[in-house]
Amino acid sequence: MKFGYFDDPNREYVITQPDTPLPWINYLGCQAYFGIISNTAGGYSFYRDARLRRISRYRYNNTPMDFGGRYIYLRDDDSTEFWSPSWQPTRTDLENYSCRHGMGYTTIGSQYKGIEASTRYFVPMDENLEIWQLTVTNHRSTPAKISSFANIEFCLWDAQDDATNFQRNFNTGQVEVEDGVIYHKTEYRERRNHFAYFACSEKDASFETQRENFLGKYRSWDKPLAVENGQLGNSIAHGWSPIGAHQVKLELAPGETRQIVFVLGYHENPVAEKFDPPGSQTINKKTVKPVIAKYLDARQADASFAQLRQHWESLLGIMQVNTPDIHTNRMVNIWNAYQCMVTFNMSRSASFYESGIGRGLGFRDSNQDLLGFVHMAPARARERILDLAATQLPTGGAYHQYQPLTKRGNNDIGGGFNDDPQWLIIGVSSYLKETGDFSILDEPVAYDNEPGSEKPLYDHLLRSFNYTLERLGPHGLPLIGRADWNDCLNLNCFSDTPGQSFQTTTNKEGKVAESVFIAGLFVYAGRELAAIASHRNLNAEAATYLAESAKMEKVTLEHGWDGEWFLRAYNDFGGKIGSKECAEGKIFIESNGFCTLAGIGLDDGKAASALAAVGEHLATKHGIVVQQPAYTRYYIEMGEISSYPPGYKENAGIFCHVNPWVMIGETRLGHGDLAHDYYSRICPSAREEISELHRCEPYAYAQMIAGKDAPTFGEAKNSWLTGTAAWNYYAIVQWILGIRTTLGGLEIAPVVPKNWPGFTASRTYRGVVYKIVVERKGEGNSVALAVDGVKIDGSVVPPPTDGRTEVAVHCTLS
Ligand code: BGC
Ligand code: NOJ
Repeated sequence: MKFGYFDDPNREYVITQPDTPLPWINYLGCQAYFGIISNTAGGYSFYRDARLRRISRYRYNNTPMDFGGRYIYLRDDDSTEFWSPSWQPTRTDLENYSCRHGMGYTTIGSQYKGIEASTRYFVPMDENLEIWQLTVTNHRSTPAKISSFANIEFCLWDAQDDATNFQRNFNTGQVEVEDGVIYHKTEYRERRNHFAYFACSEKDASFETQRENFLGKYRSWDKPLAVENGQLGNSIAHGWSPIGAHQVKLELAPGETRQIVFVLGYHENPVAEKFDPPGSQTINKKTVKPVIAKYLDARQADASFAQLRQHWESLLGIMQVNTPDIHTNRMVNIWNAYQCMVTFNMSRSASFYESGIGRGLGFRDSNQDLLGFVHMAPARARERILDLAATQLPTGGAYHQYQPLTKRGNNDIGGGFNDDPQWLIIGVSSYLKETGDFSILDEPVAYDNEPGSEKPLYDHLLRSFNYTLERLGPHGLPLIGRADWNDCLNLNCFSDTPGQSFQTTTNKEGKVAESVFIAGLFVYAGRELAAIASHRNLNAEAATYLAESAKMEKVTLEHGWDGEWFLRAYNDFGGKIGSKECAEGKIFIESNGFCTLAGIGLDDGKAASALAAVGEHLATKHGIVVQQPAYTRYYIEMGEISSYPPGYKENAGIFCHVNPWVMIGETRLGHGDLAHDYYSRICPSAREEISELHRCEPYAYAQMIAGKDAPTFGEAKNSWLTGTAAWNYYAIVQWILGIRTTLGGLEIAPVVPKNWPGFTASRTYRGVVYKIVVERKGEGNSVALAVDGVKIDGSVVPPPTDGRTEVAVHCTLS
């Protein structure tokens, strides 16, 4: 069953039924001001940091689900009936409800008793504000008197404190109202130099700033007293819960349409110029007023919207494909690329599952996110890499997370996740392959942000590499530390105390437990590093990295091989994890996926054997599960992985992040059909038809789909903010379609299904548009290339040096 449809030409998903299985959200903003918005206008906004600069309030895990939002009520002033055109909060039975989620905007509309209303929400480029453009049309044959009530509930900035510290917060709320603009200025009197505002293009019939006056005692948002009465109280909030509400009265002739523009924004003043007049307690509004005036103009709003559309048009235009598979096209051309930008902007902070108050930016996560967005935002990728590297520790280790506002490593979680450093090599390598900007390697970057400790970025990569070599266990495999990619495989934790963090509790010395996954990661990263070194003519160094890589490959094949597949790890007792010998957790996806992706065992059949075993034991119709058999009880020596009931999350759930490792592995074996089949099993668009089972958005990847051991097999959770976005994008574009960045140029080496007659693609790479035509002449994956009609050797097309800005690449597959 579907709850809407894809409108690909407009790059929108159109939801036609408001009661989706879960709130289906979208993101507003792509620079500094952000919001999440659901299909019924739920969600909230923040400036830069979802915890510390939360602008509006949201109630996570509430009933009904998805509460707090950008709500507008319409009231028929003749009949006194009122409703929400976005369905929530009144949940009136609407006609023609639709929500169009597009690239950085959402439009929600419906009709009720002859009154059509639609609101377009978006954040203009380069501004710290959002626009709500409300259009109301009277389709009746008689004039209509309609009041609109637009409303926002302010958050008192620190979202964590806002949800817990009531003894203080019920006293601090402050607002100002001037020229019809509602200013939220809680804590502005003391240490804040920022405030929020909510403005309206039409003259207010009335306004309200105190929540209780708006709702009435013991009422909720579905039946606000003030809306019922058709009149707001014009009161000024002192303490309690400040809101911004505007009432506008419209008299609409039959067929008449009117538009109202609302602007919700964030503004900072220089500390010395906070007040006007100086010495008063009144906000200095000199610099904000022109901004407000500008965007309340509907023509400006339209122009800004067109600019936003243009922004996404050019970003997505960098990589466009046309294949025989509609899901591949739609995900690559639109939604997966979009999700990659969202995960870059948000990291793991704000979604329906990430509360915006938790995690900072993950070192491992952010480096992997680069794989998905580097071609769309290379300058920001460069900045992100340098920020990440500056949180690296002198040992080569890394803080597992850093805080986006301070860009400092997070002491609460610390380091010791032994895969982290290798991801920096992979992130930097993806940047170099895209841009060819080797100057980044010479950028001086501090360790742990310590002034004076700066070393070229290249040095950071070497320390990453050595970090692993300096931490090998009894078999010569890398020690796992607190965890590797699988945050829940906590082999040194041994926690028996409820509530203790699995990620930060360490009760063992950590000198025994080893990770075969990190071994595969190291082999791969070592080769990337060697390629970078030889590109800089550091041939002796390159040889060393290759030698170390080869040594680790050998150890992996010797001590990380279980006969049919790769082991996962050795535990603190030196026992095997992910082996036939284990009662549960006999085979894992991570080591088998990453080792084959890294090319380990390609020559001697081990890679083929490992992936065949993955296909046999782990693959399901909804995707590939993490391991089998699932852990049926808590094992103190395993940690969080065994804390989840079977089939969920890391305990045999379908982790969509790691499925692409197997897809890539299959392409390395030349299996285009199977690689694309695995791709399709978890592809959100391909799962649209089973939305009632999948439940999450059909246009965004979710972190997890419940595995076969779970009663809810096939149900997705934790959509949007996951490494799944980047890895699936990378797997389909670079390995299945085979349009792959390398240090020397763009490689074209597709491994696509046999029944594809071919496909076309347009890829802008290092300033040159590659127009690619792939034609299948035989069933295999051998590639013959011609560039502008001239045959070339090999599969890499270097950017032309003769000034051409477009090249035609013809690729024959046989
Ligand atoms: C989750 C992991 C996540 C970790 C982050 C765990 O509870 O299962 O997926 O990476 O928390 O701290
Ligand atoms: C989510 C985390 O963000 C990611 O870093 C980790 O690799 C996976 N969970 C698996 O545990």
